[in-house]
Amino acid sequence: MTANGFDNSLWNERAAAAAPRMRIRTDPDAVTAASERPRELPRQVVFDARDVSVTYGAKVAIADVTLQIQRNIVTALIGPSGCGKSTFLRSLNRMNDSIPGFRLGGRILYHGHDLYDRSANRVEVRRRIGMVFQKPNPFPKSIYDNVAWAPRNLGMKSGLDERVERALRGAALWDEVKDRLKASALGLSGGQQQRLCIARAIALEPDVLLLDEPASALDPIATAAIEELMHTLKRRYTIVIVTHNMQQAARVADRTAFFSLDERGRERVGTLIEEDATKTIFSRPLDSRTRDYVSGRFG
Ligand SMILES: Nc1ncnc2c1ncn2[C@@H]1O[C@H](COP(=O)(O)OP(=O)(O)OP(=O)(O)O)[C@@H](O)[C@H]1O
Ligand SMILES: [Mg+2]
Repeated sequence: MTANGFDNSLWNERAAAAAPRMRIRTDPDAVTAASERPRELPRQVVFDARDVSVTYGAKVAIADVTLQIQRNIVTALIGPSGCGKSTFLRSLNRMNDSIPGFRLGGRILYHGHDLYDRSANRVEVRRRIGMVFQKPNPFPKSIYDNVAWAPRNLGMKSGLDERVERALRGAALWDEVKDRLKASALGLSGGQQQRLCIARAIALEPDVLLLDEPASALDPIATAAIEELMHTLKRRYTIVIVTHNMQQAARVADRTAFFSLDERGRERVGTLIEEDATKTIFSRPLDSRTRDYVSGRFG
């Protein structure tokens, strides 16, 4: 194990060469010069996506996405519907692999190792990189069995009660469910169900949590609970969240990546426009398309 908890034996390949500098697309109508921006200290890079494209059959969903995701912070992916936020997010734990016609071009390095290398162990990839979806999707089982399901499947049977409690506490749900662990998860409210899904994901003690619009089906109080949770969870996990809610991105994300649709011939293809500290994206973006989107002028 290395300091970041990543077991190099999962990949045969040696760590890839040092990461290239972020490539940022600019436009002639740029609103802020790059040199005027505040500099931040570099953090450890968890994902290094280089010129990533995804096609589903003949449909090019995203192209030319070069983006680094840093450790122990929240990165938000924002942009208009259909620009490929979910596609990119799902590519980070190979969730798209089972979609017929899915093809990924370019490379995604995870702690320096090619996520799509033949030697990558997909079960381990999913264990280390957990995912929570838009709609809470608990299994029709007890609260306890939902959280214990993945550890049991992976043979992690010792200390299971402690693991379940730790995950429920981590998801800020323990106090609400500790007296009814054997009750059906389907009896929980939507917000509780979503925190249960987060508990289910962290029961495997992953490295990364991917969240695809995790609060869009929830009321404002449940949404606030999820946002609060993000702040606690990022101490332990690297978090990537897709959101359509600009206020939410501003509240929870340290960094924000803005995706949009580019006209390429007859096609509209999703691509990354720019990525930076959330404050910068919202107040002094480089690209006029980002400025228009975050100020609600389109999308
Ligand atoms: N399984 C699939 N098969 C074919 N095309 C797909 C598939 N999934 C997504 N696409 C296409 O890829 C493009 C990007 O879709 P994606 O769902 O990633 O966008 P998104 O930014 O998450 O949108 P939204 O904000 O509406 O969730 C869209 O044109 C979509 O129709
Ligand atoms: Mg989506």
